[in-house]
Amino acid sequence: MIQIQNVERNYKTGESVVKALRGVSLSIDNGEFLSIAGPSGSGKTTLLNLIGCIDALDGGDIVINNIPVSKMNKNEKTEFRRNNLGFIFQTYNLIPVLSAYENVSFVLSIMGLDDKEIHERTMKILKEVGLEGMENRRPDKLSGGQQQRIAIARALVKGPSIVLADEPTANLDSKTGEGILKLMKEMNKKYNTTFLFSTHDPMVMDYANRLVSLHDGLIISDERRDK
Ligand SMILES: Nc1ncnc2c1ncn2[C@@H]1O[C@H](COP(=O)(O)OP(=O)(O)O)[C@@H](O)[C@H]1O
Ligand SMILES: [Mg+2]
Repeated sequence: MIQIQNVERNYKTGESVVKALRGVSLSIDNGEFLSIAGPSGSGKTTLLNLIGCIDALDGGDIVINNIPVSKMNKNEKTEFRRNNLGFIFQTYNLIPVLSAYENVSFVLSIMGLDDKEIHERTMKILKEVGLEGMENRRPDKLSGGQQQRIAIARALVKGPSIVLADEPTANLDSKTGEGILKLMKEMNKKYNTTFLFSTHDPMVMDYANRLVSLHDGLIISDERRDK
């Protein structure tokens, strides 16, 4: 469960201050498939980065699984991210010199698992995201949709409780993007992983079971849907 309480984030550039989040409160249950929608500049990335323990807030609190993450220092945040969170990015952020297999397995190597378990878990998740037979290809030998599937496998392979995806389909055509959303939803159901994804694409929002809209750093609507 994620509790976001009156969160503020200000960016100072020279003399001016941009109030990117102006008091955002939100409570998210385990297993939700939640879309954060809003126009460019509304604060979507800022909010995901704060929940993802990538950035520090200027006011309020964020509590994840009863742990007050916004009060952690940098090392504690790094540790928390490694154990609890998975990330998917608009530009995939894969390591170009590594194969699909290696882009996923290195996450488990860092965790210190033995080789047999690393192999089994990596092969299983790559199969689940539809990349069986493509394990040895490097990202540049795969399509955008296939690269994003590697990123989904990488995010899920360690079994995180939460996956954060910042505009995961923004670089994909709509048909490929829909395939990515369907896959994320399938994984959400299968593992009860909480997914939070940002978008300004109505097709993407349509898959969410909860749609939170941001505008100028404030939540302007929060609707639940039956999906
Ligand atoms: N590193 C930064 N420095 C200064 N301003 C920033 C920075 N990051 C974001 N902003 C500003 O904060 C606001 C929210 O940005 P962002 O969270 O990226 O919105 P979105 O992801 O919805 O497009 C915007 O006005 C943006 O210009
Ligand atoms: Mg953004």
